[in-house]
Amino acid sequence: MFCPTDPLLYPSLKKRRKTENITLDTNFNLRLFNTTDTSQVMAINRSCLPENYNQAFYLMLYYRFPKTFIVASASDTVVGYIMCRIELGLSEMQRFNLIKKGHIVSLAVLPEYRGKGLGKGLVSNALKGMLGYGAKESYLEVRLSNLAAISLYEKLNFNVVRTRRSYYKDGEDAFVMARKVP
Ligand SMILES: CC(C)(COP(=O)(O)OP(=O)(O)OC[C@H]1O[C@@H](n2cnc3c(N)ncnc32)[C@H](O)[C@@H]1OP(=O)(O)O)[C@@H](O)C(=O)NCCC(=O)NCCS
Repeated sequence: MFCPTDPLLYPSLKKRRKTENITLDTNFNLRLFNTTDTSQVMAINRSCLPENYNQAFYLMLYYRFPKTFIVASASDTVVGYIMCRIELGLSEMQRFNLIKKGHIVSLAVLPEYRGKGLGKGLVSNALKGMLGYGAKESYLEVRLSNLAAISLYEKLNFNVVRTRRSYYKDGEDAFVMARKVP
């Protein structure tokens, strides 16, 4: 059974180690979000992404889906986060199949902490959280120009399943990428 406090799922990364073939850097910790992280997570979101949300939105995702709201921290400082939503809807991968899907709503790592495996670690742990809610698939939208994020998702076995035209407010298209869970 999924357990959000399982140290195997949320390892303290004091030593360089591999988790599910993902090499994670030293001195970082992946743990579940708690409400005292809200202002730091919001600040990371505003500095890294043009898609921003009000505080109520973060708290709603936390209260409804705490297993898939995860932060990366260095000491007491939050340096990255992922937050997701579980939805009942049509499969992105099989036609006419109604399933639970884990939607990656937002993911970001502060620039100075990138390239250390935190993005992969956040997504990988969110996928485990989705499993805890019975999700069969995970999906997300990503800008066509966001090559770093597309590469990250491909490394975690997400595939482009369709394009959403003018998905973003500035008119840019989005790839919808999806994979099975687990
Ligand atoms: C996308 C993002 C979360 C990646 O975080 P990260 O901690 O640097 O990611 P990782 O270190 O785990 O890298 C994972 C993979 O991503 C890809 N990647 C990361 N940075 C990259 C870059 N600058 N160029 C190309 N690929 C890159 C690589 O495939 C990398 O795998 P590798 O280490 O085997 O080469 C981070 O760049 C970010 O916060 N970007 C701004 C916000 C954003 O775009 N969020 C996603 C919206 S859909």
